[in-house]
Amino acid sequence: MTAWNISRRGFLGTMAAAGAAWSLGGPRRRAWAAPVPSRESFRFVFFTDVHTRLEWETPRALDMAAAAMRAQAPDLVVAGGDLITDGLDSAAEQVAPRWDAFMEMWNSLPGPRESAIGNHDLVAARPKDGSPASSDPRAIFRGKMGVPRTYRSFEAGGCHFVLLDGIQVTDTERNCRGFIEPEQLDWVRADLEGVDPSTPIVLVTHMPLLTAFYQAVEGATAPAPDNRVIVNNREVLELFGKHNLLLVLQGHLHVDEMIRWRRTTFITGGAVSGAWWRGPRRGTDAGFGVVTLKGGRVEWEYVHYGWTPRRPPDA
Ligand SMILES: [Fe+2]
Repeated sequence: MTAWNISRRGFLGTMAAAGAAWSLGGPRRRAWAAPVPSRESFRFVFFTDVHTRLEWETPRALDMAAAAMRAQAPDLVVAGGDLITDGLDSAAEQVAPRWDAFMEMWNSLPGPRESAIGNHDLVAARPKDGSPASSDPRAIFRGKMGVPRTYRSFEAGGCHFVLLDGIQVTDTERNCRGFIEPEQLDWVRADLEGVDPSTPIVLVTHMPLLTAFYQAVEGATAPAPDNRVIVNNREVLELFGKHNLLLVLQGHLHVDEMIRWRRTTFITGGAVSGAWWRGPRRGTDAGFGVVTLKGGRVEWEYVHYGWTPRRPPDA
């Protein structure tokens, strides 16, 4: 676990120390940040689904998005995965330039940064060109992010952040489904033992734990496909039953959505790539979110950074 004891004045020094802790191989500290006093606010950027690629001038879009994020002067940057596009079914050398382009953006962002893994961030899990599958498709993501594991927790702004890895590779046409493995559930259980029940928790997952997307666009009785949501969502959420689960940040669906279920706010954070670089997706433009936590309340602003799509309609 990493502790980001963040104040607007002090977070850069903390970031350097905590970043070093990750690169040395993993969580060792159990230092708890004090809860944010109700008058103070904690403000961070949440962006997701960049789908970095080199075509259609999209690296310029990444520059624009990064500049707009820097302009927010956030206390923290959190990403929701799908940092690159099509890693899962490609060979490593094919997607290496996409990782390079993404890392250029990532390294230009301020302050502490953390990312959950998306299905596109696994590399060579099921290559469609017939090349051998990787024995460890998450290794490149871990190396790029400098983390020992794709699910982990850290402290920032008086909150306990938990990043989940809900990608289960399957031997099906869909290649994967959203599922939190038993071993990861055990880790969450153990992690929460060290968290005071009053501490606000922010959970980050690429595939949603709760969404109304399919009911909104297909009708009230529409089911969600198993590669679009975490199928064992109730089992996951029950683990947080005795804790203060304030916010769940989600990606994958490329729409801007906010749901309140009981005391928890669920946000699906649009996409930096919009509709995979084609423009808006179901009314959500290419953008990112700014979260402000203040006195136990969640504020969410979705920011369009002004990209004009250049992907040809037939591409
Ligand atoms: Fe995704």
